[in-house]
Amino acid sequence: KIIPVILCGGSGTRLWPLSRKSFPKQFVPLIDNKSLLQLTLERVAQINGVGCSSEAICVASEEHRFLVAEVMQVAKVKGPIILEPIARNTAPAMALAALQAAPQDLLLFCPADHHIPDAQAFASMVQQGCAAARAGAIVTFGVVPSFPSTAYGYIEQGATSSDGSFGVARFIEKPNADKAQALILQGNVLWNAGIFLAQASTLLEALQAHAADILQSCQQAMAQASKDHQFIRPAVTSFAACRSDSIDYAVLERHKNVAVVPFSGAWSDVGSWNAVADLIPADEHGNRVDGHGLTIQSQRTFIHSPHRVVVTLGTQDLLVIDTPDALLVANTNYAEQVKTVVAQLHMKE
Ligand code: GDD
Ligand code: MG
Repeated sequence: KIIPVILCGGSGTRLWPLSRKSFPKQFVPLIDNKSLLQLTLERVAQINGVGCSSEAICVASEEHRFLVAEVMQVAKVKGPIILEPIARNTAPAMALAALQAAPQDLLLFCPADHHIPDAQAFASMVQQGCAAARAGAIVTFGVVPSFPSTAYGYIEQGATSSDGSFGVARFIEKPNADKAQALILQGNVLWNAGIFLAQASTLLEALQAHAADILQSCQQAMAQASKDHQFIRPAVTSFAACRSDSIDYAVLERHKNVAVVPFSGAWSDVGSWNAVADLIPADEHGNRVDGHGLTIQSQRTFIHSPHRVVVTLGTQDLLVIDTPDALLVANTNYAEQVKTVVAQLHMKE
């Protein structure tokens, strides 16, 4: 049996002004009126077979405890919610979950904010990684890249295994534009989907080897954790003392026994407004409208406006995101930089 671990502590700043600190993108109804967290829970519920009781561990911010609990209830998924008093990135979040699980449990770490429409293809991808994970590897899943993104980690494929997975020759986390271009031309690379499968004991041993300080802080925090119904609260002082780092930098780049299972289905990390726009069919001029928008003599313009009528006239390569208290108008080439807007607004506060 596989236990899904849902990482829902991200802040999704590149989707401002829809994604906010108190209501980040994983909770926003984005597709068919469902949030990405709900869709993720529904997707992982099918991994152990239809009709199996559905359990997962969620790791989230204390601030969002009721949002997570409510979505779990709606998706009919049971299990603990580990609440972080402060965000310390993915390595500590994954360590907390591995410490909560039994050592031999097979854990499937899933970001809460990805869009993977084909749940069947996702389930068979996970099954394909089980043998390698049972044999002691950390399994990651690789998506065939479609453009030289600087927002993803890249995996250079190594030797092929008999079970259909590959070794990892090299791991390149978020290269710059030139490096990304070179990697794509090189050809034997996959995007790291940020989804990992490993036995709890494997992950804890890898943390001990490459980031012992992180493991120690998390062990202390979990040893003194308090429990309140579904909620598990690691001790604040120990967790606050933990170094902040991603699993990619802290462990994966250094670890020897990593396997990659290629994924050929559709996958999006819905990381920027361009990625949200891509979920909506375009008209013949490349315009996409979500809500009450109208594009006239415009090209490659995206309007998101659930409440008001928004019209563009003669625009090109534009993102218009309207919300009740903030409006974003941006050139599509600047979609990745929206996070700097949030930082600048914070400075003004
Ligand atoms: N609980 C918790 N606590 N979750 C967190 C935290 C935290 O402190 N920080 C991030 N997360 C969650 C996010 O909500 C997201 O679902 C997931 O962990 C990954 O974090 P991101 O911050 O979105 O990572 P990224 O997109 O920059 O990069 C990772 O994902 C890419 C694919 O989407 C890397 O693994 C890349 O290599 C990968 O390509
Ligand atoms: Mg992400």
